[in-house]
Amino acid sequence: MSFSNIDATEKKVVTVAVLVSAGHLMLIAYAAMFLNISVPTCQPNEKLFTEPSISKIGDLRYEVHYVAKMWNFLPKKLVLPKGATVDFYLGSNDVNHGFHINGTHVNLMAVPGVVNKATQTFRENGNYPIVCHEYCGFGHQNMNAVILVSDKVTEAVFEDSAQASESKLELSAAAKSGKELFGVKGCTACHNVDGAAGGVGPSFKGLYGRTEEMQDGVKVTADDAYITESIKEPLKKIVKGYNPVMPVLPVSDDEIKNIIEYIKSIR
Ligand code: CUA
Repeated sequence: MSFSNIDATEKKVVTVAVLVSAGHLMLIAYAAMFLNISVPTCQPNEKLFTEPSISKIGDLRYEVHYVAKMWNFLPKKLVLPKGATVDFYLGSNDVNHGFHINGTHVNLMAVPGVVNKATQTFRENGNYPIVCHEYCGFGHQNMNAVILVSDKVTEAVFEDSAQASESKLELSAAAKSGKELFGVKGCTACHNVDGAAGGVGPSFKGLYGRTEEMQDGVKVTADDAYITESIKEPLKKIVKGYNPVMPVLPVSDDEIKNIIEYIKSIR
């Protein structure tokens, strides 16, 4: 059967379909060649990883491995020299997360067991926030990170104040376990460890031994008893300036002891 035998209406449909497909392919080629939008490729055959890392692969060329986990991206802050081109490799340590770098076309899913990749060149100075846009649980709305691009730096580095100050400390086994629980139980969603203001709950930096004023004006010293009570009965005492929003989490007494050891280490 030749093309001329086909019904006229069907011919129209086939012609339109072919033209639309060709149009799409041309738009994709145009986006890739002239708009610098990277075309989705096959999943890279990358080894799985659980820790963030950075490596230089050429002049202003970097590979950065990003880890998504409830509810954080690591590295929390990536500093890049202006003009840097970065291959982003993205993995998840737990559930599905989204990964969108604002102001760019980088938009990936972090999927457990899979490594996803995108490439981006940063031509302008500025702050590029990364947000999670896939609902991933209680702390989803606080899951973010940032890329800072500046012509004042010459090399790409991770600049994570919390990580930097922690790595200086030799943590005890109990504190290490507490640190893990801190992430696993989702504490990171509301409590930071770098002392930054504006968290949902108080920062854990320097918390141990600090005197906190409660909503009713009563002053309480943050010792073992107070922290234990705050975890077991989070709504009993609320620190002034915060909302009573902390959920009761399934944490055993031993786990609480380890978390307290970890909090002690965050000076
Ligand atoms: Cu991760 Cu939402």
